[in-house]
Formats: sequence, C-alpha cells, structure tokens
Amino acid sequence: MSFRAILATRSDDGAISASLQTLDDTALSDSGVTVAVDWSTLNYKDAVALAGPQIIQTFPLVPGIDFAGSVVSSDDARFSPGDNVVATGWGLSQTHHGGYAQRARVPGDWLVKLPTNINTRDAMAIGTAGFTAMLSVLALEHGGVSPNRGDILVTGASGGVGSIAITLLAELGYRVVASTGKPDEADYLRKLGASEILDRALLSAE
Ligand SMILES: NC(=O)c1ccc[n+]([C@@H]2O[C@H](COP(=O)([O-])OP(=O)(O)OC[C@H]3O[C@@H](n4cnc5c(N)ncnc54)[C@H](OP(=O)(O)O)[C@@H]3O)[C@@H](O)[C@H]2O)c1
Repeated sequence: MSFRAILATRSDDGAISASLQTLDDTALSDSGVTVAVDWSTLNYKDAVALAGPQIIQTFPLVPGIDFAGSVVSSDDARFSPGDNVVATGWGLSQTHHGGYAQRARVPGDWLVKLPTNINTRDAMAIGTAGFTAMLSVLALEHGGVSPNRGDILVTGASGGVGSIAITLLAELGYRVVASTGKPDEADYLRKLGASEILDRALLSAE
C-alpha cells in the first residue's frame, strides 16, 4: 500500500534536506506492528535532526521522533487492528523511520496502548516533551521532593518540557516559580499554573 511521508535525505556534500514523498510498504521494516499514523509532534529534536548529522544515523529516513495512531496489522499478539497506540523515542528518526508519515511499522516493544480516555491527538499534544516532563516529576518525587518542602523552580518555562512540567507540578500542589527569558509569556505561564515569574537573566551566572 502506498502512503505519503516526509523523507530526509543527505547529499554528497553532507547537506540534509526533506521532501514529501510517496512510499509503499516495502519501505517499512519486514516485520512488526503496522500503524496508521494520526499525529506526531514537532519536538526540538526534530529541528536538530534536519539541521545537522547528530540525530539521523542512516539516510534516507522518515523523521519524527514519536507518533500516535491505530494498529493496521500486527505480528505481535499484544496488539490487534484498531488498537490506539503511541510510540516515542527508541530509534525513531535515528535508525528507524519515524512519525512524519501516514504509516509506520515498529517492533511491538516500542508501542504502548493508549487508555480509552486519551485519543491519539491528545497523546501527541502531550508528546515526547510531556513524557519527559512527567519522567522528570517522577524522578523528583523519587528523590524525596514534595510540595511541603517549598517552592519549586521550573527553568526553560516556556519550552516544551518546561510548560508541561509547570502544569503537572501545579496540579500536584506545588507552588511553581517559572523562570523565563520571554516576559511576554508571563500570562501564558500563569495560566499553566505558575504562581511567580522570574526573569531568566536573574539566574544566569555573571
Ligand atoms: N523535548 C524533549 O522531548 C526532551 C527530551 C529529553 C531531554 N530534553 C531536554 O530538555 C531541555 C528542554 O527541552 P525542550 O524540548 O523543552 O526545549 P525547548 O522547547 O526548545 O525549550 C527550551 C527553553 O529553554 C529556554 N532557553 C532558551 N535559551 C536559553 C538560554 N540561553 N538560557 C536559558 N534558557 C534558555 C527557553 O525558555 P524560556 O525563554 O522560558 O526561559 C526555551 O523555551 C533540553 O535540554 C532538552 O535537550 C528534552
């Protein structure tokens, strides 16, 4: 079956470019779970992938470090057609075709079934950045940090990870101090749950 995908290629002089292409299933892995991709996020790492050689290890490759969609077919007994799934990280956009395509095929171990109260759009609105924010919050809790120990500072507050970290921490009962270099974003950060806004310059070393 043919499908559309963004394909990153590298020319002999090392320049990386991306274009919309029509591929077919032979471009995908020989085995795994085939997913009709609904959504992928645009992460900082996706921008880095097209700007230089740090992320994509093999060309041509479909970029996109994550995706959410529904299973089309599966050689893994844990997944059936129609299951809504999410994938983030692993080798996506590094050594394996990623999420900027209408179809993906990955090992079942890379997939997580979505709970029924999260659709594929919401899953990618959270995205890899939101997943990272949650892992960070869990690590803080694991380290003994709790709301009754005082204010908590979120740096890079307006960024992908910082913005979701603010929301998570505020929901968990923390008084969040948001450090940002973008004073215009203060209202947005307060709406997310920040109680206080700090100018990023105040935290910078002289
Ligand atoms: N996104 C992911 O999935 C992911 C996964 C693993 C690790 N990480 C790491 O998490 C960090 C944040 O990633 P992100 O995706 O949130 O990036 P991002 O969306 O680009 O946000 C980074 C934020 O950092 C702040 N910033 C920019 N220049 C700065 C400077 N010179 N000094 C201090 N702060 C500056 C800005 O926020 P303000 O203007 O509000 O200060 C900016 O919005 C990065 O180190 C990234 O490598 C991200």
